[in-house]
Amino acid sequence: MKVTVVGAGNVGATCADVLAYREIANEVVLVDIKEGFAEGKALDIWQKSPINLYDTRTVGVTNDYTRTANSDVVVITSGLPRKPGMTRDDLISTNAGIVQSVTENIVKHSPNAIIIVVSNPLDVMTYAAHITSKLPRTRVMGMAGILDTARYRAFLAEALNVSPKDIQAVLMGGHGDTMVPLPRYTTVGGIPVTELIDEETLNAIVERTKNGGGELVKLMGTSAWYAPGSAAAQMVEAIVRDQRRVFPVCVKLEGEYGIEGVYLGVPVILGKNGIEKIIELQLNEDEKQLLETSRGHVKEVMDALDNINAAKA
Ligand code: NAI
Ligand code: 2OP
Repeated sequence: MKVTVVGAGNVGATCADVLAYREIANEVVLVDIKEGFAEGKALDIWQKSPINLYDTRTVGVTNDYTRTANSDVVVITSGLPRKPGMTRDDLISTNAGIVQSVTENIVKHSPNAIIIVVSNPLDVMTYAAHITSKLPRTRVMGMAGILDTARYRAFLAEALNVSPKDIQAVLMGGHGDTMVPLPRYTTVGGIPVTELIDEETLNAIVERTKNGGGELVKLMGTSAWYAPGSAAAQMVEAIVRDQRRVFPVCVKLEGEYGIEGVYLGVPVILGKNGIEKIIELQLNEDEKQLLETSRGHVKEVMDALDNINAAKA
């Protein structure tokens, strides 16, 4: 299996590293626009192989998409990250231009690839990649839900003093402050979380999760990469190994949850064809309202992108 990661920055290089050392692909091609940057990162990952004992070939290129030809999966991480004080939506114009041109190159050289978008604002960049690629919606998706859910699970593990391995959960909606937590679907070793934690602590964890990305931007001056890069690699693994994992993934909704034409995180089954199935949960009225707020926010940013593209045309 051949996987291309576009953007050799913090998230892209972390993703490529996980793909290599866990031997998720036979070959990983890292692409960046900065001269020599991807080559250097790929060489460093390759030189780690005798230490960590893997044989995934890692290759870096500067904007040369011929080297990415016939990739099975492509992860797009190219774009600017957030700086303190910025929202994800502040990145829309610059990152849309980058994501759209990268997608054109990907599809030209790997027409059968499945595309995973990571660049922010995530839901709208998934939209940008999807319309540019003209691929079926099952093959263009965004990574955010695994990350947001992982943050929630990690905070719960800390509060309950249990292993994060035993916390199962799902968050839905857009990647941002309007994400939709679902405590009803959160379990700890099979036990509903609501039996183990008081409401006030759970609410505080939900709020911290919603601001999880911002918390790290404040601490580091740029956005996170270990968890995001690993989350994207986990999606690649589910696809290349046809694992049929159940993950929250951003996809275009076409009537599911009563939503038409908006890109939102929902639970899906991920396998060799990309999104094998969208799982429709029975949401209660409060959860439906939260999802509607999230839909409204993502749609506003999608409309902003449409206006930017129309002005350029
Ligand atoms: P970074 O700045 O470390 O890396 C971005 C890389 O993209 C740079 O090396 C840059 O040279 C490259 N790049 C820019 N234009 C390019 C082009 N046209 N072709 C190829 N490469 C190009 O940024 P980082 O931290 O890796 O973040 C990348 C993106 O991922 C940002 O938009 C960030 O907001 C987003 N992100 C999304 C998350 C999610 O959950 N969906 C989580 C974390 C970050
Ligand atoms: C994150 O959630 C900024 O989207 C990025 O870490």
